[in-house]
Amino acid sequence: MKVVHSSTYDIKIGKCSLQTIQHSSYSAIAILVDEHTKTNCLDIFLKESQINPKLIIEICSGEEHKNISSCEQIWQQLTNAKFDRKSLLINLGGGVIGDMGGFAASCYKRGIDFIQVPTTLLAMVDASVGGKLGIDFDNLKNQIGLFKYPKGVYIYPLFLKTLSDRQVLSGYAEIVKHALIADKNYCHMLMETSIEKINWEETIHHSINLKNDIVESDPFEENKRKILNFGHTLGHAIESFYLKKEKDILHGEAIALGMYLETELSPLNIEKKKEIQDYLKSNFNLVDCPSLNQLLPFLKHDKKNEYDNINFSLLDDIGSCSYNNDLSIEKIKAIF
Ligand SMILES: NC(=O)c1ccc[n+]([C@@H]2O[C@H](COP(=O)([O-])OP(=O)(O)OC[C@H]3O[C@@H](n4cnc5c(N)ncnc54)[C@H](O)[C@@H]3O)[C@@H](O)[C@H]2O)c1
Repeated sequence: MKVVHSSTYDIKIGKCSLQTIQHSSYSAIAILVDEHTKTNCLDIFLKESQINPKLIIEICSGEEHKNISSCEQIWQQLTNAKFDRKSLLINLGGGVIGDMGGFAASCYKRGIDFIQVPTTLLAMVDASVGGKLGIDFDNLKNQIGLFKYPKGVYIYPLFLKTLSDRQVLSGYAEIVKHALIADKNYCHMLMETSIEKINWEETIHHSINLKNDIVESDPFEENKRKILNFGHTLGHAIESFYLKKEKDILHGEAIALGMYLETELSPLNIEKKKEIQDYLKSNFNLVDCPSLNQLLPFLKHDKKNEYDNINFSLLDDIGSCSYNNDLSIEKIKAIF
């Protein structure tokens, strides 16, 4: 088993990780699932962890359910089952379950403990690390939320076996992002390796280490943590645009296109831009790009913006990223 130490919690990765969950001190335990993690992951989780939950809370899967009405269902069920402040919520699922379950736990009775058991690649390498929690509101991604660390993150890579190739590729986009912003050698190694040949335990571990180092240096995203937003300014706008259109698009798919576009905005020479963009184009199924006019309403709501400019984190090399690049709409127009 591999362990990454964060300031207040550990991220444990490997086959035995679930066996190490500390749960004996809680008055009651609930497990939050959606219909897919209930079918594919819950039995394995219960068998490996030996946890005997008082309550299983099932929420409909999908980004469209990452909202306040799903939170109400969670709070109602916890209340009905008389969960007190010494209870624990275990979030067994992808980034939607992790973000929303962590948020719901942090508000219930002013906050109960929660742990993350991510079951998608995206949640393993990204969503479950770093303490960002929240829900969508008014068609805006993660509009309501907070920062709070879980009691622990337990990653069991075997959960990936039941995940579709499309979902795996979506998570892989965040692995590539971590490499592009923070580790040149690792990035070249990924660019030369086909996804079928990846050793997931090693790759998840390395990717989490990169993210964790960045988060630890700036937990509340005042400075350096902003580099994790590479690909996300346009990526989130693309995701919000399609969410409103009720088109099925995955987070990593939006981010892959966001990284492609933000590479174009980055102060890189033409060869380097081409190297990165060719890689993204041939390894990810880039979704159709909406027009700038279609994205502008969402870009203007981005939480990072100040004044009228749009805030970007941009690559200044492979493995190196700068933040607080405020670009005017005119400048962004040039790449569309
Ligand atoms: N908090 C953060 O720092 C952070 C970072 C990145 C993304 N996110 C958020 O994460 C969310 C996306 O997460 P996601 O890509 O994991 O999507 P998701 O949670 O919607 O999961 C994807 C689908 O896979 C299913 N699933 C989950 N595990 C499975 C398994 N082992 N086998 C079969 N099916 C399984 C789910 O039921 C769902 O249908 C977005 O809401 C995004 O905003 C948060």
